[in-house]
Amino acid sequence: MKRNRLWLGVGLMSLGALSTSCSKEAPAPQAAPAPTAAAPAESAPAAAAPEPPPQMAYAKLVSFFRPSASQAAVAKKDTPERIALGRMLFFENRLSKNHDISCNSCHDLASFGVDGKATSDGHKGQKGSRNSPTVFHAAGHVAQFWDGRAATLEDQASGPMMNPAEMAMPSEKHVLATLNSIPQYVKAFKVAFPGDKKPVSVTNAARSIAAFERELLTTSRFDKYLAGDEQALSEQERRGLNIFASSGCTTCHNGPSVGGTSFQKLGLIEDYPTEDKGRYDVTQNEEDLHKFRVPTLRNVEKTGPWFHDGSVKELATAVRLMGKHQLGTTLSDSEVDDIVAFLKSLTGELPGPELLSPPELPPSTASTPKPDPT
Ligand code: HEC
Ligand code: HEC
Repeated sequence: MKRNRLWLGVGLMSLGALSTSCSKEAPAPQAAPAPTAAAPAESAPAAAAPEPPPQMAYAKLVSFFRPSASQAAVAKKDTPERIALGRMLFFENRLSKNHDISCNSCHDLASFGVDGKATSDGHKGQKGSRNSPTVFHAAGHVAQFWDGRAATLEDQASGPMMNPAEMAMPSEKHVLATLNSIPQYVKAFKVAFPGDKKPVSVTNAARSIAAFERELLTTSRFDKYLAGDEQALSEQERRGLNIFASSGCTTCHNGPSVGGTSFQKLGLIEDYPTEDKGRYDVTQNEEDLHKFRVPTLRNVEKTGPWFHDGSVKELATAVRLMGKHQLGTTLSDSEVDDIVAFLKSLTGELPGPELLSPPELPPSTASTPKPDPT
């Protein structure tokens, strides 16, 4: 902890290196001079306007949000047939025990992939302990879930079906019995996985859902900015971006998804009160206590309430808390306003109804297992 304070003291800013440099470990110390914005508020006269941080060059600012080499290299193998099947399964209530919950219940695609609740309602209204993260841009994350316990979207997708607090299917067998009882699904799996001896499988269902999820991207004015149009952001948004980068937010929120590239301790500089052990639950490694996979900030304006437990109801509060607990900085009101303005520029356009609207689902047959409310 002391060491953290020290390196923060010498400036967390200018992580000139690309996002890959902090994809696995905590941010490395930098020898750059301390940004003025990072000075604790107590030492500044209450009424004096804080000195703005020095303006970073455009080339430097955009460098924080480049894809890493490995991300850029991921080839797209998802066929339209798999994506179409994945879309059906994403909206499929019959993959839940009582036929009343689908992936879309907690990750509402029309609402930027979230349900707007602190924690979601699963089978029989059971509440989980964590906030449902958005599925938009999840494909770009180093790992899935707040604690990263699933390595890929494929690994993640079969989890909720059999999770007793979520969709509560009693077994893989039950999932397969359901899918096999609906001839149109059997056909859709065959078409999506040609040459596969057993096309209807939970693995292939997960593959299809993952293929669909990889389509769930949005583009915002910030992308225009990254592509070279500096005027795509307003003056205030650019000011916010500059504070975001120079105060050190980009140490953790970097890469094309403005996050998702690393695990970081919540309360790095100043302890944050939470019972959730985060990544520690997965690794049992003391160092991972209260570490969470850094969330994407794409569409963050729309994905509240915020934080792993959904406890933060205002975006400005989330920004203030980040300054305090992650950077040891008290951000001024105007700095918070500017950062929030910048964050809102990350709100993108959703894909069209051909992807996001609920598809027509094939009818059940006499052999389809019945809904079970128990
Ligand atoms: C009852 C609500 C609920 C349902 C149903 C549900 N999820 Fe989730 N989902 C969550 C919660 C809560 C988390 C975070 C849990 C954690 O991190 O421990 C999550 C996490 C995820 C993530 C990880 C995102 C990230 O940024 O780490 C993905 C992807 C995802 N869900 C996709 C799905 C898919 C696909 C389905 C359907 C097969 C589904 N979910 C069904 C609540 C739900
Ligand atoms: C040391 C790493 C680190 C730094 C620096 C950092 N963050 Fe975060 N940020 C995180 C982590 C980890 C979370 C997840 C917190 C949680 O789950 O409770 C997070 C969450 C957030 C959220 C909420 C997102 C959501 O979907 O719930 C916002 C907004 C945010 N950060 C903005 C910022 C801003 C603005 C800065 C700079 C003032 C900043 N962060 C600095 C690691 C960091």
